Amino acid sequence: MKNVLVVGGAGYIGSHACKALFKAGYNPVVFDNLVYGHEDAVKWGPFERGDLADAGRLDEVFVAYRPECVMHFAAYAYVGESVTDPAKYYVNNIVGSISLLEAMRRNGTDKIIFSSTCATYGEVDDLPITEETPQNPVNPYGFSKLAIEHALRDYGRAYGLKWAAMRYFNAAGLDADGDLGERHDPETHAIPLAIFAALRNGEFSVFGTDYNTPDGTAIRDYIHVSDLAQAHVLAIEYLNLGGESGAFNLATGRGTSVKELLTAVEMAVGLPVPVKFAPRRAGDPPALYASADKAERLLGWAPCCRDINLIVKSAADWFKQHHN
Ligand SMILES: NC(=O)c1ccc[n+]([C@@H]2O[C@H](COP(=O)([O-])OP(=O)(O)OC[C@H]3O[C@@H](n4cnc5c(N)ncnc54)[C@H](O)[C@@H]3O)[C@@H](O)[C@H]2O)c1
Repeated sequence: MKNVLVVGGAGYIGSHACKALFKAGYNPVVFDNLVYGHEDAVKWGPFERGDLADAGRLDEVFVAYRPECVMHFAAYAYVGESVTDPAKYYVNNIVGSISLLEAMRRNGTDKIIFSSTCATYGEVDDLPITEETPQNPVNPYGFSKLAIEHALRDYGRAYGLKWAAMRYFNAAGLDADGDLGERHDPETHAIPLAIFAALRNGEFSVFGTDYNTPDGTAIRDYIHVSDLAQAHVLAIEYLNLGGESGAFNLATGRGTSVKELLTAVEMAVGLPVPVKFAPRRAGDPPALYASADKAERLLGWAPCCRDINLIVKSAADWFKQHHN
């Protein structure tokens, strides 16, 4: 089995990628400091605890496993916090990622699949978003990811690094077998928050009801986490076959409004979602959805699950089981 180093593999998307890697015949070696991850989510290969900033620890793991490829999920990803504490994001997401790229260079691993984000685009004029849409992030989190996309391009030109930057839209849903959960703390993603609100008789805040969208609420593109995971496996194969390095949108191409999402949650949970209407948040665009044609054309990838009701149900089933 070929080793793939999965940095941040104890987290939500990384743990799903480990399962997909294992099923495709790879040995996923998880490297994670557990700042947000969960050791019990490491189920398909060895676990090596360590921090991106620790060059010595990275070298030990590279020497021990000689990974043919790195998947890099480790980052802080709270947009609001990145505005109030940008240093935290510059240090972990930028300096930490450069530390990883340097460890790869020292140890002769020349392929990386990087978790980028739709937040690198910022507020866009034209929809659907393509990889050519200008990238103008509006917060330090998005900027930190864009900075690493630029570093990948530069390392590719100068040192021969082969890379794929996967620009995820809204990751959602859970493993179909119930093997893996979503346990962000704090949780900021709409689907788990709406499910919690329904199950615990809490309150879900809808920010903005006066957008220029059919029902007035904001529209986002929700992509199933297992589809994201599969795209990463295909990206390794693409780079192995000599595919050109570059960025790929990972999205369904379909927008779902907040109101539509809440209807899907109510159907999946079987309970109403208590709602509080609030004004728009600064920097929240009315609609974001993307074309993933490039990933389909070059990676042979297409999302298996485009139905928002099924995506939400996969999450609701897990939460109902694990959150009483
Ligand atoms: N969840 C989404 O909707 C979404 C959307 C776009 C992009 N992304 C990106 O995808 C990646 C994974 O997101 P997620 O939702 O699985 O997050 P997550 O917090 O569940 O996983 C991130 C993992 O990285 C680890 N980590 C963080 N800093 C580290 C460090 N310095 N050293 C070692 N490990 C470290 C954490 O412990 C955690 O296990 C992130 O890079 C995020 O920016 C996520």
